[in-house]
Amino acid sequence: MPPCEVPPEAMTFLYGARKPLLVLHFLSAVALLGSSTHLLLQMPALLRGASRVRLERIYGRVVACAYSLTYALGAVLYPTYRYHVRALYLDQHHPMVSNVFDIKENLATIALPLALALGALGGRLTDPEDRPYRPVYASMSLLVALVVWFDVVSGVVIASYRAV
Ligand code: HEM
Repeated sequence: MPPCEVPPEAMTFLYGARKPLLVLHFLSAVALLGSSTHLLLQMPALLRGASRVRLERIYGRVVACAYSLTYALGAVLYPTYRYHVRALYLDQHHPMVSNVFDIKENLATIALPLALALGALGGRLTDPEDRPYRPVYASMSLLVALVVWFDVVSGVVIASYRAV
């Protein structure tokens, strides 16, 4: 059955809006990729004790907002993906691609609190007594950037097999 021709009883949540939602999910993921990579590039300065406070604050906040938006858009696409892409196609013809989606989704959930923390703490670890926490912030920034890079690349690969 072609993916767009579904009987009315097979409609999923926001089925009619799936294409614009996928485009928005993608655009938000691109903003997230840029901001998380730029934040990571500020970490050597933070670790040297020469924080670029303004940049850290801006990138941190953009990461937190773009991550939340990307995550929310992915969540509203999920019911359509689960039935029309996964159940009707990927699980039958490309189960490994389904597995990659599970890893993408689980990593995104694990890194969500870290991304929010990057926004809350960005540009705030400037006092000398904050020094022990700087490597923790830098590690969180690295982890979030790695997850985002993995999720963007795997998301495009998954959608290349069949998109919502
Ligand atoms: C760090 C967070 C995430 C990033 C960076 C990300 C990125 C992406 C990208 C780049 C695509 C491909 C879009 C395209 O080619 O047009 C995609 C597809 C998708 N993502 Fe995400 N995503 C994230 C989290 C999530 C989460 C948490 C969910 C679900 C709860 C989700 C659900 C989906 C779905 C359903 C698709 C479409 C797959 C298809 O049509 O075959 N995403 N994602």
